[in-house]
Amino acid sequence: MPVPGPGYSITVRLEAPPSASAAGDLTTAVGEVGGVLTAFDVVESHADAIVVDITANVLSADHAEDITKALNALQGVNVRKVSDRTFLMHLGGKLEVSPKVALRNRDDLSRAYTPGVARVCQAIAANPDDARRLTIKRNTVAVVTDGSAVLGLGNIGPAAALPVMEGKAALFKKFAGVDAWPVCLDTQDTDEIIAIVRALAPVYAGINLEDIAAPRCFEIEARLREQLDIPVFHDDQHGTAIVVVAALRNALRVVGKPIEKCKIVVSGVGAAGSAIIRLLLRKAPADIVAADIDGIVHTGRPNLDNNLRWVAENTNRENVSGTLHDALVGADVFIGVSAPNLFGAEQVATMADDAIVFALANPDPEIDPLEAQKHAAVVATGRSDYPNQINNVLAFPGVFRGLLDAHAHQIDDDMLLAAANAIADVVDDRLNASFIVPSVFDAAVAPAVAEAVKSAVKGQEVASTA
Ligand SMILES: NC(=O)c1ccc[n+]([C@@H]2O[C@H](COP(=O)([O-])OP(=O)(O)OC[C@H]3O[C@@H](n4cnc5c(N)ncnc54)[C@H](O)[C@@H]3O)[C@@H](O)[C@H]2O)c1
Repeated sequence: MPVPGPGYSITVRLEAPPSASAAGDLTTAVGEVGGVLTAFDVVESHADAIVVDITANVLSADHAEDITKALNALQGVNVRKVSDRTFLMHLGGKLEVSPKVALRNRDDLSRAYTPGVARVCQAIAANPDDARRLTIKRNTVAVVTDGSAVLGLGNIGPAAALPVMEGKAALFKKFAGVDAWPVCLDTQDTDEIIAIVRALAPVYAGINLEDIAAPRCFEIEARLREQLDIPVFHDDQHGTAIVVVAALRNALRVVGKPIEKCKIVVSGVGAAGSAIIRLLLRKAPADIVAADIDGIVHTGRPNLDNNLRWVAENTNRENVSGTLHDALVGADVFIGVSAPNLFGAEQVATMADDAIVFALANPDPEIDPLEAQKHAAVVATGRSDYPNQINNVLAFPGVFRGLLDAHAHQIDDDMLLAAANAIADVVDDRLNASFIVPSVFDAAVAPAVAEAVKSAVKGQEVASTA
């Protein structure tokens, strides 16, 4: 049964009689139709009436309507206005540009802008590396999308993707002090996206690709990495892979199994699943069996695209075919980044003892976590209302902080694994079956990830010059 959460929250402004029972009547009315009351504020008081703001979490527009009707039906109550608090938060956007220099007088102006700025331009023209020292490039990341795979909403286009990209930029700033800017492109043509990102790259020290559909995202990232001298990171792929690898390291500690002896089933071989498989292979598990909407991925399956062929050739040692349910038999670990409600407790029962289940499809996981818990030793989801939330926020701010601080020109799997280890290490001795990853609000995470990534970049520079 879904529970109203803060993602859909309304404030109802109403007039009510100033009676002693008014507050009780109003809050009871909200509760009786299933609203979760979070605030009750008297904003005006008169001899014959009070004006009250009632704030409540609701499930849907219909549910908000039910609550409004229930309040309006009370004797002497008159609803004036209903506001959606989520929309209020987005009014006018969530970001702004704010200058770091004072522009108080002619002297300031002459140095921040013309004529003084010309000498700074000439310095950069003479030595392009100075752009990182003398411009916003040092700390700025582009959050690039074509709006083709936005959250679970699908291909809603670049303008509709902007609220998500603004939110991403806000998270970059909040958790790691990175200045990120949304770049929503009105094209879904691979060559055109690559050409545009290449052309705008001089302003940025990193490119975060976001919500670009598979398989196009693989080619865009690979070609941009070849063409640019700044790191290119598709968060839906690598942010997810980092956090999954971190969580799995700790989950395996809980059950006391070495990864080299584990059979891992990955459901979903799109952006997230492919990147998880590639990073997990670096940890040398006993086997990985991947499955998607057409069943288990094996070399004999017809119509494999480049990505699926690579997966088929690098997983599934015994080249088995069949369904996800077949794959689960005897598996130690399930990692789902695919679709809701694909199996139940009876399939978890067929897995090995002390099974680990990461059901990460959003908003509804591959299996209800309460069902999974009947037979699994550790369960994780992408949801904030269950323990063990696998969320990319644990990775991308610190990853880019580290890359920017190291003046990195590229990103590789060693840096991703360093980030994963850093996240896993933050848990330390707090580890148990319900705490395999730190909270997204743990202030220790981003600095730890940044430091680990920075060290990995530096280590690699030393190795490449040795
Ligand atoms: N919690 C997290 O941290 C996190 C991170 C990334 C993705 N996700 C979730 O994982 C899911 C996939 O994300 P993506 O970006 O990789 O999407 P995608 O579209 O790139 O890939 C989806 C994959 O799931 C497979 N699939 C779809 N329906 C299926 C079904 N009925 N049975 C088996 N496989 C099925 C597809 O064949 C494809 O391989 C989404 O629900 C997303 O929200 C969660």
